[in-house]
Amino acid sequence: MSDRSCLSIVLAAGLGTRMRSSMPKVMHEIGNLPLVGHVLKALSASGVKETAVVVGPDMPELEKTVANLSEGAQCFTQVDRLGTAHAALAAREVLEEEHDDVLILFGDTPLITTDMISEVLGALAAGADLVVVGFETANPFGYGRLLMKGEQLLAIREEKDASDEEREVTFCNSGIMGFAGSKVLALLDQIGNDTANGEYYLTDAVELANASGLKVVAVNAPEEDLQGINTRAQLSDCEAVFQQRKRLEAMARGVTLQDPASVYFSHDTRIAQDVVVEPNVVFGPGVRIETGSRIRAFSHLEGAVVGAESQIGPYARLRPGTNLEGNNRVGNFVEMKNAAVEKGAKVNHLSYVGDASVGARTNIGAGTITCNYDGFNKHKTEIGSDCFVGSNSTLVAPVTLGDGAFIAAGSTITKAVSENALAVGRSRQSELEGRANVLRSRFKAQKQSK
Ligand code: UD1
Ligand code: CA
Repeated sequence: MSDRSCLSIVLAAGLGTRMRSSMPKVMHEIGNLPLVGHVLKALSASGVKETAVVVGPDMPELEKTVANLSEGAQCFTQVDRLGTAHAALAAREVLEEEHDDVLILFGDTPLITTDMISEVLGALAAGADLVVVGFETANPFGYGRLLMKGEQLLAIREEKDASDEEREVTFCNSGIMGFAGSKVLALLDQIGNDTANGEYYLTDAVELANASGLKVVAVNAPEEDLQGINTRAQLSDCEAVFQQRKRLEAMARGVTLQDPASVYFSHDTRIAQDVVVEPNVVFGPGVRIETGSRIRAFSHLEGAVVGAESQIGPYARLRPGTNLEGNNRVGNFVEMKNAAVEKGAKVNHLSYVGDASVGARTNIGAGTITCNYDGFNKHKTEIGSDCFVGSNSTLVAPVTLGDGAFIAAGSTITKAVSENALAVGRSRQSELEGRANVLRSRFKAQKQSK
């Protein structure tokens, strides 16, 4: 990053009518991150420090999301939605400050890369007054077309305003524009609304800049990275591109994906080298997997840390707050939530471990349930190290098992168990000799008498 100052404005006030949703368009998610979050992430990864987000007047949840995702970002409200140029001017207050470069981007174009942002900033630093990121596409429908003359970009023509000849152009506007900070406000203020639908088009800045003799250029970036989202179908297209990127990234970093197309990532999934991921695994937000672990088929993880050399699944569900220190086994049909599990502990089959701590090397038998909820409050189960919890035990929280405790199978544990004690919380087995035959004769007689 050079020492030039840069302001970015992310336009996100559009209603997204074509999404048919009660939610603002840019709140829809890809890789479990709102679209606007992807744009903010790319900007901060490019070293852009000052960001304004233009939101609609009725979008409090969007403002909250922006505040959560990016500390420095400031929201501005566009009261009437009169087009992209009008939207950019909602941030007039920051546009009036001095910046070397001003980037204007759309919140509905989430796959942009740091490479293309640096290319725009590079072109501005090299003397361009206005830079537009374009892409070549076989399906230009709906995009503004870039009308070039040699290196100079003469105009951007919106679909609705284009002539038949202009519609043939396949070089399109991505919506990412870079302006020389000294020129931007004058250009935006000149834009009128003499357009097909009476909107103020940001894209008109190009013709106006040409009329003032300014240098206007286009940079060409891959279509895949510049897809805009107007519909649910386009949302799923972008999700597919995003997932494919994540899969390739993971494999490039030394992760084995046995069937990449069936593994789904979140924007923040972190998987270390030499982890093996079997087919049909879903990583929700906030997952970290450390080296040497294996995530077996059909597992679902979210907000969980899996320490090194662990084995999860098949069919395991790790929910938020699960923290496995390493060398752990979590087997089929085990659900864990808010559980701190120390090294070497195992929960191999059919258990629920929630709001719990499990000490090192402890073995939790099949069908063990921590009863953490009484209908009103959540309570903790604290299990020490080197414990053995027999199958089908219910641990009624709040409850503590001391180190080395041994719980007999089928126990219901309601009181603390001391270190190295054996706890049996079930009725004792009794036996009546020969009684089975007596019962059989009785039942047989009942059946015959019917
Ligand atoms: C826009 C571009 C088009 C480009 C395409 C790329 C214009 C006039 N057209 O068209 O050249 O090819 O994006 O995807 O710029 N917005 C506001 N306030 C408004 C209107 C829009 O904030 O009053 C925001 C939207 O939330 C959205 C972005 O601006 O994030 C783009 O608006 P949209 O209506 O989707 O523009 P397109 O028709 O896709
Ligand atoms: Ca759009």
